[in-house]
Amino acid sequence: MTQRKGIILAGGSGTRLYPITMGISKQLLPVYDKPMIYYPLSAIMLAGIREIAIITTPEDQAQFQRLMGDGSQWGLDFTWITQPSPDGLAQAYLLAEEFLAGSPSLMVLGDNIFFGHGLPEMLARADAQGMGGTVFGYRVADPERYGVVDFDDQGRVRAIIEKPSVPPSNYAVTGLYCLDGTAPQKAATISPSPRGELEITTLLELYLSEGALRVETMGRGYAWLDTGTHESLLDAGNFVRTLEQRQGLQIGSPDEIAFSQGWIDATGLDKRISLFGKNAYGAFLKGLVT
Ligand code: G1P
Repeated sequence: MTQRKGIILAGGSGTRLYPITMGISKQLLPVYDKPMIYYPLSAIMLAGIREIAIITTPEDQAQFQRLMGDGSQWGLDFTWITQPSPDGLAQAYLLAEEFLAGSPSLMVLGDNIFFGHGLPEMLARADAQGMGGTVFGYRVADPERYGVVDFDDQGRVRAIIEKPSVPPSNYAVTGLYCLDGTAPQKAATISPSPRGELEITTLLELYLSEGALRVETMGRGYAWLDTGTHESLLDAGNFVRTLEQRQGLQIGSPDEIAFSQGWIDATGLDKRISLFGKNAYGAFLKGLVT
């Protein structure tokens, strides 16, 4: 099997966060001490993936590139792709088809934050599945805002329903999609939904109808944070601040992960540290080298 590749979908207009996102992409907003996209990028890196396509709107691409460059500072290889109009999450697989070139993928939404002990192992299990797809269910109090898993009496997945007014369970499908190399082909067969989007849930339903979709539930020891509203954005920032301050560690640091994976050496990390002056992020990274 070919190496799994990563996709970060950071398009969209972020209208729910207006006026903040009238002048800047949502995924560049700060979540406490880091740009939002650092967190989903970290999840992909924890899965051991180094070849990553980043999909943005054409207008925002230059700003993302200013922040993240070509990825070489983290030993990564970025491919930049634009999404001319936000026509749905499944469209990402069409836009990334050439980049993927038949490879399996791990796609993460640029506004999803994952935290939890055992995340790398969970991702490795999904990667090991090979054919088919794996998505992750997470219990939330407000499932109607998400794609929701419908389980039968035996706990098997019967359906995934996008933003149901009467949710069949409390399990939302998180924005982390581990799919095999057929995802672009399958996405090409989808027609737009009534709201005019190529829905990710329709793509997942295709996998489900082939008996090829696994839903792994993330236990309560994980945090899956949403940044879709002003309240949840602030909550996510406070969550990160609380843990970082208490532990003296960093959440969502691509610099730390690149160094611990051995993708950059101490010289490479030093170069990054010199950018951060005397702030806490730089001091934390310095502690890793010494
Ligand atoms: C999207 C998906 C939904 C998923 C959610 C996760 O919703 O359509 O199935 O549960 O991401 O963040 P959106 O954020 O586009 O409303």
